[in-house]
Amino acid sequence: GDNVLYLAHRYDIPMEGACEASLACTTCHVYVHRNFQDKLPEASETEEDLLDLAPFLKENSRLGCQII
Ligand code: FES
Repeated sequence: GDNVLYLAHRYDIPMEGACEASLACTTCHVYVHRNFQDKLPEASETEEDLLDLAPFLKENSRLGCQII
């Protein structure tokens, strides 16, 4: 699928994705620009739980591989 992690890779933007979008890491952590924050569906509970473990968590944090 065309999630933000895959798009980053396609355009040579460095983004790690250690678990390859299987929602088991935080290496695809991104900050969502405020203009897009309310355009995205809510994060799932599993994503939220992982985000709680992410370094430098911010209010606009998401996991890139979960943004479609
Ligand atoms: Fe592991 Fe996104 S790549 S959760």
